[in-house]
Amino acid sequence: MQDDGIPALRGWSEAELDAAFAAVAREVETSARALTSADEKEEFRLRWLGRKQGRLKAISDAWLKAAPAEAKKPLGQRFNTLKALIEARLEASSAATSMSVPDSETIDITLPGRRRRLGAEHPLIRTQHEIVRIFQRMGYSVGVGPEVETDYYNFESLNFPPGHPARDTQDTLVVAGQERKPLRERLLMRTHTSPVQIRTMEQQPPPVRIVIPGKVHRNDAADATHSPIFHQVEGLCVDVGITFADLKGTLDHAMKELFGSSVRTRFFPSFFPFTEPSADVQISCPFCGGAGCRKCKHSGWIELLGCGMVDPAVFGFVQQKQPGYDPQKISGFAFGMGVDRIAMMKYGIGEIGLLYSGDLRFLEQFA
Ligand code: DAH
Repeated sequence: MQDDGIPALRGWSEAELDAAFAAVAREVETSARALTSADEKEEFRLRWLGRKQGRLKAISDAWLKAAPAEAKKPLGQRFNTLKALIEARLEASSAATSMSVPDSETIDITLPGRRRRLGAEHPLIRTQHEIVRIFQRMGYSVGVGPEVETDYYNFESLNFPPGHPARDTQDTLVVAGQERKPLRERLLMRTHTSPVQIRTMEQQPPPVRIVIPGKVHRNDAADATHSPIFHQVEGLCVDVGITFADLKGTLDHAMKELFGSSVRTRFFPSFFPFTEPSADVQISCPFCGGAGCRKCKHSGWIELLGCGMVDPAVFGFVQQKQPGYDPQKISGFAFGMGVDRIAMMKYGIGEIGLLYSGDLRFLEQFA
């Protein structure tokens, strides 16, 4: 049906008349709903009821002229009803526009509000916050550092000398075009959060208790458990008289907070250039309670993080800027854990790639 055209009338039976009038009535309702100003109201009135060009007149002229004699009465009755409808709508809208609100500011307070979709924390960030909060409750503060790092902070100051084989355990993505700089100034994507240990100590004398969450990068091929980008939470505690017992107590407590109080920890000798002694920490399998299952490869234990006592050589690097880190007077421990693996364990996620896919079907399960 064209806006100015005359709607089609299929026949003269009561049902056909009713259908045709219902269509016109719908047209009236739609245009009446859009009336907000006095001008629009007048336009509506002229458009429908205007004596010469009014649409009601045009339609009734056309239909009545074509109608057989016996259809004229039912047609006339229906036009009266339609006219009453138009007048009623005009009346109702005049009540609305008679309020002393300027046209452009008329707000329909009866319209429903627009609902915003609530976001939710990503499971990785949620896990990261959970870990950080556990250490905050033990008095740790929170720090961050750059993801594009120098060779000095990522390796050398952490006691990985140039050419040291321990560098090979962290397959590094380097920034291109750095060859003319001295090695220690060359930029790379940090392979761990440990460089922020050095940056923190350079900024403040002991004591230090800090956790450092953040993104790290390695040139690893992606598979179900590896992603070239992943997340770590680093920890550092330095003070007078810090011992390995403090390290064990702190991490045992943190793991119980994270996985439940029945979880046990055990420490194995390991190697990191920046800690001496170094240890790998295993937790009793939270899935089977230590009895052995597929998740723990039937060993009852799952390896979760690295740690150790800060190597005096590391304090030596820091002392160039902060002489207070005298290994004769102070000691400390450090640890680093992978957030992705912990999130995957806590939420039963089998593929690390899902954490980076941005797939709402996956993410909505955590909302
Ligand atoms: N930076 C180590 C890595 O990414 C993890 C680590 C181990 C951090 C021992 C530490 C530590 O602070 O003491 O493999």
